[in-house]
Amino acid sequence: MKTDDDRLLEAATNARRNAYAPYSKYAVGAALADEVGRVHTGCNVENAAFPEGTCAEAIAIGAMVAAGGRRIAAIAIAGGREDLEPCTPCGGCRQKIAEFADASTRILLLDADGTFKACGIDDLLPDSFRLL
Ligand code: THU
Repeated sequence: MKTDDDRLLEAATNARRNAYAPYSKYAVGAALADEVGRVHTGCNVENAAFPEGTCAEAIAIGAMVAAGGRRIAAIAIAGGREDLEPCTPCGGCRQKIAEFADASTRILLLDADGTFKACGIDDLLPDSFRLL
């Protein structure tokens, strides 16, 4: 039977297929479950003006917020140039995840062999900056 983790990992892998990454060739997909269980997805969208590119996680978080979600219960991230490679969120995305995460948020990082590693935001970004 598929678990919630499996479903999120599958949604991230599917979103990754739509990544627009002609410059880096590094395609990333992210899928997150919000506080009521809705799933929001994103993929990286690059731009000829390189700094204008956006990470997959940022787009998934934007979709969640636009839909009224305010908390990340779990987020799965899948990335790689061709096949999957272990892909951990960049520094900026760690901060973006932290804004909507708490100690119980599950961060699922898909490995090259199709398994995943689960961690928390404090593992990825200890002592993150917060105003709230
Ligand atoms: N990328 C993401 O989408 N998420 C991350 O956390 C790491 C990096 C994207 C940005 C760029 O389009 C490509 O991966 C290579 O850096």
